[in-house]
Amino acid sequence: MKIILAPMEGVVDHAMRELLTASGHYDLCITEFVRVVDQCYKPAYFYKICPELKQNGRTHSGVPVRIQLLGQHPDWMAENAHIATELGSPGIDLNFGCPAKTVNKHKGGAVLLQEPETLYKIVNAVRRAVPAHLPLSAKMRLGYENTDLAQDCALALEGGGADMITIHARTKIEGYRPPAHWHIINDIRQDMTIPVVANGDIWTKKDAEKCRKISGCDDIMIGRGALCLPNLAAVIKTDEVPMPWADICGLLIEYATFQRDDMARGFLPNRIKQWFHYLKRQYPEAPHFFEKLKTLRNIEEIIAMILHERC
Ligand SMILES: Cc1cc2nc3c(=O)[nH]c(=O)nc-3n(C[C@H](O)[C@H](O)[C@H](O)COP(=O)(O)O)c2cc1C
Repeated sequence: MKIILAPMEGVVDHAMRELLTASGHYDLCITEFVRVVDQCYKPAYFYKICPELKQNGRTHSGVPVRIQLLGQHPDWMAENAHIATELGSPGIDLNFGCPAKTVNKHKGGAVLLQEPETLYKIVNAVRRAVPAHLPLSAKMRLGYENTDLAQDCALALEGGGADMITIHARTKIEGYRPPAHWHIINDIRQDMTIPVVANGDIWTKKDAEKCRKISGCDDIMIGRGALCLPNLAAVIKTDEVPMPWADICGLLIEYATFQRDDMARGFLPNRIKQWFHYLKRQYPEAPHFFEKLKTLRNIEEIIAMILHERC
């Protein structure tokens, strides 16, 4: 079984990938999406989204990190994919699942699930731009308003040249509302020859087992569950015990001190508060800590609070 750490824009950044993959058992990470309109990004932008490019495209624990692109124009997508792989991205992932209004309004993300032929053209152009030895994956939802075109979309991605697809088992209009329809992944998978990865609502080892059974997929992708329980991949693969709260406090401090540049540090208080939103689901200690930190604006104060409260 492979476990992929899901791309999560504004949440799973470089620091988070380092921390989560350090606990082991992730096989692949996908970056937050790079939104492609009608330009080629400069290397500096790719390095910002994926500093791992300077480490051979891997986290310190050796997990490959693939750059994700989102956009509608095959040629611009292909050009940017080419640059990303030249810079060392060990493959490319394409985003056809983003539900954000602004993105969809400009014909990016899940809105393209209404046009399987456009999906085909994008994947095909990117495939030709990416060296043949590097993998190309794509991530889709079950559809935009309904699942009528799910199969056509998956086949278009495969036909265009994707080596693997991940299916987040909900339509765009379902947002993140449970349940994820793992059984529909199974229907789609039947006609595919490339590996299909199941995604959506895997919070526990039991969920992972159930999802694999119902979807028929060997491999899974986990997003929010990995933030709620940072060693979820190890729990799923090796029955490791869930990480104790004291270790979570250590991780929070590591996360808070990981970023060195002032700009990134400016975002940290909000990023940490956001992480608490997920930790509250798993840890009874989290709400108390959150109450204490919610009014703090400065990262040094947040670190001091965590150090003080964890004793
Ligand atoms: C805050 C947030 C940001 C996300 N950003 C991305 C993204 O950049 N690219 C992408 O393909 N999916 C993105 N997703 C979707 C996740 O990768 C994943 O498909 C979804 O959360 C369902 O999986 P989960 O139930 O394991 O979280 C995002 C989800 C969330 C909640």
